[in-house]
Amino acid sequence: MAIREVVKYGDEILTKKCRPVEKFDEKLHTLLDDMAETMYEKDGVGLAAPQVGILRRIIVIDCGEGLIELVNPEIIRQSGEQLEGEGCLSCPGKYGIVSRPMYATVKAQDRNGKEFKIKGEGLLAKAFSHEIDHLDGILFLDKVIEFIEQ
Ligand code: NI
Repeated sequence: MAIREVVKYGDEILTKKCRPVEKFDEKLHTLLDDMAETMYEKDGVGLAAPQVGILRRIIVIDCGEGLIELVNPEIIRQSGEQLEGEGCLSCPGKYGIVSRPMYATVKAQDRNGKEFKIKGEGLLAKAFSHEIDHLDGILFLDKVIEFIEQ
């Protein structure tokens, strides 16, 4: 496992739409391991592949209840709204209020290609929405309602 460099705001790689994963191979497993290690090292609750320079639909999340790996994730249901502060490992020093769903159900594949569904509420629903946005080239900065001074 290795810690990867996190791409910062301003790099155009963060504005690109990512392609789906088609091969569930050793290379994907290494990337997922590295992404998790990088997220933990930087004290993040989520990390998307474009943040480490890879334009594929892969995210890792840990909101304190264990590691979640999502390959080709899609929000298939969402409801409610939360207006909470959030930041991003690619946008150091920035923090602001974003409208996110309070509840979200995601359909994804695991590291071996097996499909599953997972439900999130509160912080986890916010993380699903924030990280899946990254896969479509959207940063939380594009959606901020109000910046909060740190
Ligand atoms: Ni982010």
